[in-house]
Amino acid sequence: MKLLSGSPLADKLQIPVVSLEWTECLDKRPTDRTSDDLDAIFSKLKDVKAFEKFHPLLIQQLCYYSYFESLEKGVTLFRTGDLGANWFAILSGSVDVCVPAENGKGHTLICTLEAGAAFGESILYDAPRNATVITSSAVMLLRVEQKDFKILWERNKQYMHGVITSLSKLTNTLDPKRRASEFDPSLLPQVASSKFMKDDPTRNPALPIIPAPSVRIQHAAYVLRSCILSKAQQMIRDRKYHLKMHRSCLVGSEMVDWLIHQSPLVHSRSQAVGMWQALLEEAAITHVSQEHYFKDKYLFYRFSGDESGTLTRPSTAEESDCEEQLNDVILTLSQVGPDAMLRMILRKPPHERTIDDLEIIYDELLHIKALSHLSSLVKRELASVLIFEAHPFKGEVLFSQGDEGKSWYIILKGSVQCIIYGKGVVGTLHEGDDFGKLSLVNNSPRTATIILNEDNTHFLRVDKDDFNRILRDVEANTIRLKEFGKDVLILDKVPINVKTADGTYQVCYKYSIMSGTAEKILEYLLETYICVNCEEGDTNLDDFVSTYVIFMPTNQMCATLLAIYKAKPQQRAGENMDLTLREKVKVIRFILEWHDASKETFFEDPKINVFLTELHHLIRIDVKIYPQLKEEIKLIESIMENDSDPKETRKSKLPWKQRNSIDKPKMIRPSDEVIFKVYCADHTYTTMKMRIDTPASKIIRLAADKLGLRADQPNDLKLCEVRSTGERILYKESDLSISYGLSLNGRLFLAPADHLDALVPLPEQEGPQRGTWQKLEMFGSKELAYAITMQDYELFMAINQHELLYQVFGRYKFGKLTANLDIFMRRFNEIQYWIVTEICLTPSPGKRVQLLRKFIKLASYCKEYRNLNSFFAIVMGLSNIAVSRLSLTWERLPSKIKRMFSEFETLMDPSRNHRVYRSTLTKLTPPTILFMPLLLKDLTFTHEGNKTYLIEALVNFEKMRMLSHTMRTLKICRSQAL
Ligand code: CMP
Repeated sequence: MKLLSGSPLADKLQIPVVSLEWTECLDKRPTDRTSDDLDAIFSKLKDVKAFEKFHPLLIQQLCYYSYFESLEKGVTLFRTGDLGANWFAILSGSVDVCVPAENGKGHTLICTLEAGAAFGESILYDAPRNATVITSSAVMLLRVEQKDFKILWERNKQYMHGVITSLSKLTNTLDPKRRASEFDPSLLPQVASSKFMKDDPTRNPALPIIPAPSVRIQHAAYVLRSCILSKAQQMIRDRKYHLKMHRSCLVGSEMVDWLIHQSPLVHSRSQAVGMWQALLEEAAITHVSQEHYFKDKYLFYRFSGDESGTLTRPSTAEESDCEEQLNDVILTLSQVGPDAMLRMILRKPPHERTIDDLEIIYDELLHIKALSHLSSLVKRELASVLIFEAHPFKGEVLFSQGDEGKSWYIILKGSVQCIIYGKGVVGTLHEGDDFGKLSLVNNSPRTATIILNEDNTHFLRVDKDDFNRILRDVEANTIRLKEFGKDVLILDKVPINVKTADGTYQVCYKYSIMSGTAEKILEYLLETYICVNCEEGDTNLDDFVSTYVIFMPTNQMCATLLAIYKAKPQQRAGENMDLTLREKVKVIRFILEWHDASKETFFEDPKINVFLTELHHLIRIDVKIYPQLKEEIKLIESIMENDSDPKETRKSKLPWKQRNSIDKPKMIRPSDEVIFKVYCADHTYTTMKMRIDTPASKIIRLAADKLGLRADQPNDLKLCEVRSTGERILYKESDLSISYGLSLNGRLFLAPADHLDALVPLPEQEGPQRGTWQKLEMFGSKELAYAITMQDYELFMAINQHELLYQVFGRYKFGKLTANLDIFMRRFNEIQYWIVTEICLTPSPGKRVQLLRKFIKLASYCKEYRNLNSFFAIVMGLSNIAVSRLSLTWERLPSKIKRMFSEFETLMDPSRNHRVYRSTLTKLTPPTILFMPLLLKDLTFTHEGNKTYLIEALVNFEKMRMLSHTMRTLKICRSQAL
């Protein structure tokens, strides 16, 4: 329905001008309402007479959630016993509340609700209606749907007291049992007691915000007092009120009158109020019993010092001097008055703020940089909860690193220093900057200590509950943390699914790392994820330990951790023993996560050994000061001994890490020795036994000695692989893990550089002359699949996840081995070519058909054993052109087997990025042996499509997250023992 100004209903509503828009806005779905819509609705509703007693905050919420309804007389809104779906507030008109008559015929009227009443709150409890409500005249209503009303109620309980009409209360004489289960406003928590606020200068605008006035305000008070004494002496006198005598005081309303008459600069009473409040907040004047901030009322105020009578009357010369200065003083006060007025409003308890107060705050919020991205509705909500906080002295610690985050701050005046444990002051934040939301959003401890950098610093503060309710989901998405003027960490707010206590999932927001320096990322993780309850579903820590090898060399990681461990507290920054202990524990706990991710390769790097030994030594010294470290030292020792799994004493937070007792895989380590042959061009060879991490240069030297090869010039001898195809692959002198890097059927040759062309494969590389089909006949497909899978499983479990990254980023960059991964990849080729070879070497067509059938069943069993790597290898072997072209053999296969094979081929269908395979893999329960080439391809794609470093050498952590996400498939596949 649309209203036109001047219509009878509009007159009844007492809405001055009723435009078409606001009711149309109320027809839209809440989520579709724009800020302008909400502003239009709010500006109308706040003037509706019937809603006078509604708190502005409640009206704001109604703008968002309610729908407009206009109904004729005699419409039944709901009946007794109905399950309710809406809550109503009457804008105009009236409704009758009735219950069924005792004789069962018709209704008995209980009462009539008029404009301003609200009813229907039984929807909160899903209770049936216990009265019938019928419109008794044409009515205009606001209607709120049940789901929205529940939110509205949760947010505004305290403001709905006295607004809601409980139908159950009205009807309780008729059905007393209902009453207990229904809404009873008297059970509502009362608005927080103001007792403790009274003593808090921040919350009580009647108290000064600094103990003594600034020179400027002191001077202004002196001039004003002198002028009053010379021109209107009677204004300052002893007054009696409620049998109590108040010495030398003035009346608030008279002070306003006087000021207005002194200068045309003071053009309104409210302006004068602000000017006097500027004196009050600096303790230059006070209310006689410090109960009231400055009000234009019959309340007594006095100039400081007048109560004790220490102030004397100025001399005539001084008075005339002051009169000359009066205009300047009024000018000064008119400049500071509006701010004092704003502070006065902001120091009032939120429920005491009037609509005009909220408008003043709202107007001010429009100019605050830190809030510029927020919608006007959010700013209006903030206006009612923002708290002013003033701190008189420089050097005060606002909060310390490691504290629980309780509030978010915006600097209104002054500046603060941001201090990080072990680093000192990393930056200064100024007027308009905000801080302190990281810990609120992340629900983690404070990441820095904040110290006031100037006297008389002012903040706007939003407390945690209000922040979470109003801002958490809409607050700025990106945060840039700076140190020494440079960006060191860029965070982005992302939704994550968090498991709640009742097992359901709920979306919550967290600041997730986008990019940063390696050290700051590590520091942030230590602060945010170690020693705090981190939610399942948050992968930041796992992303870091899975990928750090790419951007943080081990020595840098060890040095950073040692620096944090060794850092000394700074007394100035309020850092104490608790914080120091916390920092130390964080380092130790992080090492456990790091060890968990690296597993057996943890000690491969000798630097880690040195680091752990030093750390262990330091902890042993520290235990004397911090006995709490006794438990921690045991954890470090269990890692160092490397014989007990620290996970047994401590359960990992990450679900895919919670495996029980998986046998330690037999990994290849750099120090392992390997036996291999090195051939000459004439196919003579020598056998070598060397460590796997022996570089090619050393193999060349030793093999040359043994083979009696002399180089004409230094570096003339070359090591290369000759493949069965004749292809030659040259090794660089620095290459490692040569023998494991050989391809299937490849051989290692040593020859002078200009003889390389003469190298030809050995006869044995041609492959076998005869198949082993006779032997294969002795084994069932299931038995074979089992044996293959057991062996694959061992190789699969031995792969270290970092090997995947070394492989994709280029192992030469890291100087690391990928032997375990190489062997697993070679295994794939081994199986594939074994299939091709056996089929092709089976002479009799009948036997070949049998073998083909056996291999298809072998693939089927591998799939059943969730060994997708060998499954793919077998199917690819069977699809090899040498096998697929044997059409007569294929024709003779039973159709059931042929169908089975076609199904297998579908699983390998590469279209839509191997969708069929990927969805099959996710459905399998671990342990699963995945198809490794595809995993490596995914990682390569991510690597090639994304930069590792962004501007200013910040690590692109988004890339790390993507890599880690792909690698997580590997972890999930290996998360259960066979
Ligand atoms: P929070 O962790 O809640 O409390 C300390 C605040 O300091 C933090 O939120 C950030 O808002 C702010 N801060 C500013 N610069 C840095 C920095 N380089 N490192 C950590 N915190 C910072």
